[in-house]
Amino acid sequence: DSNDQPYRTAYHFQPPKNWINDPNGPMRYGGLYHLFYQYNPQAAVWGNIVWGHSVSKDLVNWTTLDPAIFPSQPSDIKGCWSGSTTLLPGNKPAILYTGIDSMGHQVQNLAKPKNLSDPFLKEWVKFPQNPLMAATSDNNIESDFRDPTTAWLGQDGHWRVLVGSKRRTRGMALLYRSKDFVNWVQAKHPLYSTKDSGMWECPDFFPVLKNGQLGVDTSVNGDHVRHVLKASMKSQDYYMIGSYNAAKDVFLPDKGFDEFVSRYDYGKYYASKSFFDDGKKRRVLFGWVDESSIEADDIKKGWSGIIGIPRAMWVHDSGKQLVQWPVVEIEELRTNPVNLPPQVLKGGQLLQINGVTATQADVEISFEVSKLIEAEVLDNWTDPKILCSQKGSSIKSELGPFGLLVFASEGLQEFTSVFFRIFKYQNKNLVLLCSDQSRSSLNKNNDLTTYGAFVDVEPLHEKLSLRTLIDHSVVESFGGEGRACITARVYPTLAINDKAQLYAFNNGTSDVNITRLSAWSMKKAQIN
Ligand code: FRU
Repeated sequence: DSNDQPYRTAYHFQPPKNWINDPNGPMRYGGLYHLFYQYNPQAAVWGNIVWGHSVSKDLVNWTTLDPAIFPSQPSDIKGCWSGSTTLLPGNKPAILYTGIDSMGHQVQNLAKPKNLSDPFLKEWVKFPQNPLMAATSDNNIESDFRDPTTAWLGQDGHWRVLVGSKRRTRGMALLYRSKDFVNWVQAKHPLYSTKDSGMWECPDFFPVLKNGQLGVDTSVNGDHVRHVLKASMKSQDYYMIGSYNAAKDVFLPDKGFDEFVSRYDYGKYYASKSFFDDGKKRRVLFGWVDESSIEADDIKKGWSGIIGIPRAMWVHDSGKQLVQWPVVEIEELRTNPVNLPPQVLKGGQLLQINGVTATQADVEISFEVSKLIEAEVLDNWTDPKILCSQKGSSIKSELGPFGLLVFASEGLQEFTSVFFRIFKYQNKNLVLLCSDQSRSSLNKNNDLTTYGAFVDVEPLHEKLSLRTLIDHSVVESFGGEGRACITARVYPTLAINDKAQLYAFNNGTSDVNITRLSAWSMKKAQIN
């Protein structure tokens, strides 16, 4: 119960117990959403990896089934690692996943449902010819050869799939082609690679419409789409937007995207995977949100790892970045709305938001600033994360920090702050969004790192909006209507259960206007 498990999430997905990492093979089949995930059936630490399996009608409530894929063949006897599903013609799902074979090498395997008329697709049959892809001797990649993507069809009617890899320190997405989904031939050149990025884990490659918020199937290409290439490296999920020449199998990043700089999320978010939801015609993203606690604490609580709220994902009108927003279904959990009238939040003011369950809430707040002329000048471009650590929530400037204090204890011995700060940089306004965990817990064993991101909004013309999903040990924030996302894990010792409080604050010297403040308690989702 919540007294023994103050950090257990109420509406973020997690299995009943034990360890999870990457989301695997998400798809919609027969109107039901399937989510698989790297799962240790035996402990709250990484190991013994199988594909856990859960299904949902609405991406909110989940039923856990038995693991779908577990070691059983020489080609996966030492582990069933990450992979993806592809819907083959006739709407037949196929899973490509990485197996760790008896030699400890990484190889790619195929599995298909035993019975397509079972709506839960409980049983999966592995191909006897597995493995279908093995590392070739010339590229020394037998331990860096994993995580196949959802495959797509080229103009020639042949399948393509990417596999994450590296050569020395150069990270890359290897390209394979197949006529029949069984015999795969490696292309001469990787689809893309970047120097010194290290191993690319869990690549993802998919089209997005140039205009609008709808998604398209992974095989779609043409003038009306751009392509997104995402890879996980150095504990972070990076993406590029570009064009994919299907005739030549070449990916060309747009200007400004030739290195991996942009991230899905500037907090804790890794090994994410998207899929096309043909029900609501959108692209949906799942990501792994790891713990920030020490392993001994994970073992004590008996679980580790959650999945971020599924996010719809599309390209911003500017074409220069992706936008992510919690799927609308999550709003069905909202209850007991609290709407505060628009008001001035004075410099130095702390405004308590009463009437919501502060450990389990959804908060939307928008600010308007007027005295932009007074914004602090930033002389040199600085990494936003470093800027946020140097200028935490107690360091005053003219414009900011202002935002939310979540998981705040009475007397503020503990709190997590999510806030904006506005700078003037090269004569333009620069908006910084921070998630500051440094005071989140009196237990200093936790990772209390502060996260930060710049938000591409122009505060002269636009409101500064923030939506934060609060869930016992999760602070998942969406700034600028989804243009900058920051997810954090926190473990307060005092601000737990009914002791937690929620505030809006302004620690800047100038007043700011709150143009909107809506908060809801969130009902518990039915998970497991
Ligand atoms: C990413 C990852 C993948 C691998 C899996 C193993 O977190 O390391 O590259 O397939 O986890 O569990």
